[in-house]
Amino acid sequence: MSDFWNQKFSNPDYFYGDQPNDFLRSQVFRLKPGARVLVVGDGEGRNGVWLAEQGFKVTAVDYSSIGCEKSRALAARRGVTLATHCADLLTWPWPVAEFDAVVSIFLHFLPEDRSKVHRRIEAALAPEGWLVIELFHPKQLGYTSGGPKNLDMLVTADELKADFLALNWWLLTEGCTRLTEGSGHAGMAYTSHAVGQKLPQG
Ligand SMILES: C[S@@+](CC[C@H](N)C(=O)[O-])C[C@H]1O[C@@H](n2cnc3c(N)ncnc32)[C@H](O)[C@@H]1O
Repeated sequence: MSDFWNQKFSNPDYFYGDQPNDFLRSQVFRLKPGARVLVVGDGEGRNGVWLAEQGFKVTAVDYSSIGCEKSRALAARRGVTLATHCADLLTWPWPVAEFDAVVSIFLHFLPEDRSKVHRRIEAALAPEGWLVIELFHPKQLGYTSGGPKNLDMLVTADELKADFLALNWWLLTEGCTRLTEGSGHAGMAYTSHAVGQKLPQG
């Protein structure tokens, strides 16, 4: 599958643009200055690099080698640093309780792998750490603005909620939005998005 993403990222332009995801931008006010942020499936780095520009200590993971190279190039152009790991999240040695936030934007899996990765995300959060997540909803199959075409990879807000048992939800919703994220995500879309905070004793 990393070949699939290398192919998508092989043009010099940034497939999802070089600006952050709008939902992430709207929620970042919750993070404390200097927070340690893990960005999973960061692709070509638009979200991780922007978070580094906001002063956060960013670790980004993606298994596309081209994505990782483009992320490092974008960081260099913007004069910021972030730790980039080119690795498969299904086998990556996930840190435990090390991050003040995890950001997951349009990172889709089949259900079994999704719950595995979501459990790891939850464990990687320090107590009171934040999860900011956006995924395409099954209704996205009625739109042409991007996302997997496989129904099993699409996620309702209820499914998202069920994946994370140690979080308090500050926001958990699904609905129609407009994406203007490069040529990869363009137009009206239907997504699930949420902000959860790990319980203090979690
Ligand atoms: C739809 S793209 C989103 C990229 C980025 N989050 C963004 O919003 O610009 C999905 C990304 O997840 C990455 N990905 C998918 N499965 C992965 C896995 N098992 N391990 C690491 N990265 C993965 C792909 O390489 C790709 O960069």
